Amino acid sequence: MSDVAPQAIRKLGKGKLVIATHNAGKVREIADLLAPYGIETVSAAELDLPEPEETGTTFMANAELKAMSAADLSGLPALADDSGLCVEALGGDPGVYTANWAETADGTRDWMMAMGKVEQKLLALGPDASRSAQFVSMLALAWPDGHVEWFEGRINGHLIWPPCGEMGFGYDPVFVPEGETRTFAEMSFAEKQASNHRSRAFAKLVAAVF
Ligand code: IMP
Repeated sequence: MSDVAPQAIRKLGKGKLVIATHNAGKVREIADLLAPYGIETVSAAELDLPEPEETGTTFMANAELKAMSAADLSGLPALADDSGLCVEALGGDPGVYTANWAETADGTRDWMMAMGKVEQKLLALGPDASRSAQFVSMLALAWPDGHVEWFEGRINGHLIWPPCGEMGFGYDPVFVPEGETRTFAEMSFAEKQASNHRSRAFAKLVAAVF
């Protein structure tokens, strides 16, 4: 038996925490999840922090890269989410590249176009292609001294076409979570928060660091 004690998970004290994203939809969801814990939050955009290039090939690597960059530059603990849509019939695509599929020639993001790309690829596989998909969220909590903790959440569901609903962000209008008949974009903010990939990852973070 090893006599090396497993490293304890670091607790998060009260004080300021950077939400290390420039995505307004994610900021809203993460700030809402943190609200009951008396943590003062500030977003990377509010601090005018640059958006690091997501050079990783896994959700974990990209979440760490974003959290570490914000922690380094701000001198504060930072929480980042790297997330994406993994479509079974497309071998897990767009996955880590979910945001990239929305990039346009002029550098903006077009979510309708991105959802359309997924649909075109599914149609190309024929009418029997599985429409099962999963949203994945990897949260990385990093401190300025380089310590990092990770928490993962997933939610299964299926894709519909055409897109439905006006709420949420990103690929919400085409994703129907398991046990539901509506897309995330047809649910209220509170309904989506009750059970999605990010809130599932967040529940693990709460259990570990608070
Ligand atoms: P990234 O984590 O910045 O690489 O971006 C992940 C992308 O996945 C986002 O820009 C969204 O398009 C998509 N995404 C992640 N979570 C959600 C969600 O809850 N609803 C819809 N789209 C999401």
